[in-house]
Amino acid sequence: MSYPIHRPRRLRLNKIIRNMVRETHLASEDFIYPMFVTFGKGVRKKISSMPGCFQLSVDEIVKEAQEVYKLGIPAVILFGIPEHKDEKGSEAYSDKGVVQKAIRAIKDKCPDLAVITDVCLCEYMSHGHCGVIKNGKILNDPTLELLAKEALSHAKAGADIVAPSDMMDGRVAAIRDILDANSFEDIPIMSYAAKYASAFYSPFREAAEATPQFGDRRSYQMDPANRREAIKEVALDIEEGADIVMVKPAMCYLDIISDVKNTFDVPVAAYNVSGEYSMVKAAAKLGWIDEKRIMMELLNSLKRAGADLILTYFAVDAVKELRK
Ligand code: PBG
Repeated sequence: MSYPIHRPRRLRLNKIIRNMVRETHLASEDFIYPMFVTFGKGVRKKISSMPGCFQLSVDEIVKEAQEVYKLGIPAVILFGIPEHKDEKGSEAYSDKGVVQKAIRAIKDKCPDLAVITDVCLCEYMSHGHCGVIKNGKILNDPTLELLAKEALSHAKAGADIVAPSDMMDGRVAAIRDILDANSFEDIPIMSYAAKYASAFYSPFREAAEATPQFGDRRSYQMDPANRREAIKEVALDIEEGADIVMVKPAMCYLDIISDVKNTFDVPVAAYNVSGEYSMVKAAAKLGWIDEKRIMMELLNSLKRAGADLILTYFAVDAVKELRK
């Protein structure tokens, strides 16, 4: 039952047949576009570690969001760069915070674009960690209260989905509780469920100005060597009420995306993170790779592995490529 009866090349010999038997199709609806909002007016500041990405003030982010919407991308996820950082991350849950302002402004001009918010404290804390610190330790339970307040303030401002990325234990339950107690029971939670302590986040830390001032995130983010633990983390988040679960980073974690997809019946998101993006940009700039082809191959691999949703800085370029 093999050659010459079977000739797999028959189905590859021309474009029409190749397209007919293609197993994975990317579409604009697959993407979520991450954006960075900063204080001020008329600000459009290049992020040098992430070519093509910008820190945008509220007025500018609205314009960009409208472009994203016109391309058929259904959602953006917002990260805030506050004017002031402190030990309590006050601007994370202030009604006048940059993210809260951006949500209101985007929903006003572009009501059909879903606005997702990253719920985390690292960008707002003077020490750059994702939780409250005492005696050099990142405390779990006192952090939950702040995260819950932050998620609630995003929902009040009009966020469509909240996405906790801190990796504290119990944050999904704490957020679900506070949302429900305030009549936001219909706001979904997309949890960064299996988030690894990865070196691939470094360009983002320049973008979001959220580098830890001491130590690293290994006491709360997962060890990149662990596979079974991802299943445990995802199971706990679903139990606590997560509606969508995320695996992050994506490219080096295709086994995790696939495991999560095959184990649970909830939508799976994959975060194609800053380092994955910037490596492609850098190699392309050197003329070593074909940027567009690498981008599409990479995004395809995430969907093939089982991602239902893909958070990527390539979203806009990828949709333009799909339309060609
Ligand atoms: C905040 C957060 C990070 C990213 C998303 N949310 C940084 C981190 O955990 O250090 C990384 C995104 C990227 O690299 O593109 N906790």
